[in-house]
Amino acid sequence: MNIAVFASGRGSNFSAIAEAVKKGKIKARLSLLVSDNPSAPVIAKALRAQVKAVIIAREDYSNRADFENEIIRLLKKEKIGLVVLAGFMRVLSPDFVGNFKNKIINIHPALLPAFKGAHAIRDAFFYGAKVTGVTVHFVDEKMDHGPIILQQALVIKASDTLKSLEEKIHKIEHLLYPEAINIFVKGKLGIKGRRVRISSRKALS
Ligand code: GRF
Repeated sequence: MNIAVFASGRGSNFSAIAEAVKKGKIKARLSLLVSDNPSAPVIAKALRAQVKAVIIAREDYSNRADFENEIIRLLKKEKIGLVVLAGFMRVLSPDFVGNFKNKIINIHPALLPAFKGAHAIRDAFFYGAKVTGVTVHFVDEKMDHGPIILQQALVIKASDTLKSLEEKIHKIEHLLYPEAINIFVKGKLGIKGRRVRISSRKALS
């Protein structure tokens, strides 16, 4: 199966995924990085990992449909079977999601449905939550909403700072996302309404 990662920024999840593919822990081909941000550090990471990187900037298109159609054209050309959103800072339209139904996944740095949005780690920390975590989920028409594939909880300790919490969350992400991708690639997922059934879950070794 061919995978595309979409990212707008730093790309630490991209690197974790690329590494897992390289080591054969994810049995798929990482065919493409799509970024909407020409100055995203993730682009250099893709080039270093020898993954084709394509920048498709929203400003270069007069409307969202044209922007998304260009991405869809590329995904079809590369025969992409799974789209992995990893810090992609755009909400995809219902049309786009419909084109890749149950083939787009996202990672969110909190236990959904708590702390949706772009600042989830900070929001959970300053809310005073005692537990937070990471969610990998299918993408549907609403933001941070589709059926949940995997979640991992994390206790926020009194001694944690925002920085230490961020580090712990990212560490979990870098293990949980490759694991979820591998489960998808192996076809071990069934979706019934909002419930995702995993027929076999083996941690990546
Ligand atoms: C991650 O925390 C992810 O959960 C969120 O965006 C962040 C991306 O980080 N959706 P990176 O670019 O992968 O380092």
